[in-house]
Amino acid sequence: MADATGNVDAKDYGFDTPQKNSAYELKGAGHYDWGMKDRLSRVFDPKSGKTVMLAFDHGYIMGPTSGLERIDLTIVPLLEHADCLMCTRGILRTVVPPTFNKPISLRCSAGTTILTELNEECIGVEIEDAIRLNATMMAVMVSVGGKYEAVTIKNLCKMIETGNRYGIPTLGVTAVGKELVRDARYLGLASRVCAENGAQVVKTYFCEEGFEKVTAACPVPIVIAGGKKLPELDALKMAYKAIDQGAMGVDMGRNIFQADDPIAMIKAVKSVVHDNAKPDDAFQMYSDLKGRTF
Ligand code: R5P
Repeated sequence: MADATGNVDAKDYGFDTPQKNSAYELKGAGHYDWGMKDRLSRVFDPKSGKTVMLAFDHGYIMGPTSGLERIDLTIVPLLEHADCLMCTRGILRTVVPPTFNKPISLRCSAGTTILTELNEECIGVEIEDAIRLNATMMAVMVSVGGKYEAVTIKNLCKMIETGNRYGIPTLGVTAVGKELVRDARYLGLASRVCAENGAQVVKTYFCEEGFEKVTAACPVPIVIAGGKKLPELDALKMAYKAIDQGAMGVDMGRNIFQADDPIAMIKAVKSVVHDNAKPDDAFQMYSDLKGRTF
């Protein structure tokens, strides 16, 4: 118990130095509450303002896709190199060691698989379990322009409501679908809809034409999904162009874990995202590290 008498007199009040209010620079986040900012600072490196999220949640719609057959063998060795882990609660609880202390972007919407019709989703993880799992961010798919547009936007809004209550940001994930064209007009609309509904971060796809319009018109950070596996240099070029045109990071899966050397690839992607490495230099780094990293 603190003593009431005999304490050293307090005297260092710094009268000449006004207390500073620190600026919070992440796009759109200046007016959020402390907990929300703290969580976003775990996802987006405060030094570079960027993030390399490792996505391995594909199994919830695709089953054991290539590279994710044994997450304990293929993904766990990668975890220490990622800035944030994007996964389902099933994999988090069963395979991801809780000792990594990495921020988690928890897949919270669930629904139809590739065997039927994609994108009919509901809220699959309620806020209590997200908190129990110490989720840093909650990811919800929205199918803007698709058959399940209204229900998936409702899912997003519900997660944002509950996330705001507890200071947990929500990641709006713009859907893929056979009927949805991935051009700047569509991606810009879908991303903006997520942000207007309150998503603190948006995940969408890169497009060759007009991507800077997608990021400019979205008031919160955009991270890009990688999509299907590309040759490593092409994936690095895509990451470079996305960052150069305003993306705040990548949420990349197959282009990392299906690479010939996933650890070398995630390091090369990080050099692009955090250090503005040019694609050729990053590819050189990948080639140098390939086979040497384990
Ligand atoms: C897909 O089910 C998930 O939303 C993935 O997290 C997302 O597509 C990113 O992974 P990839 O870079 O493989 O597209």
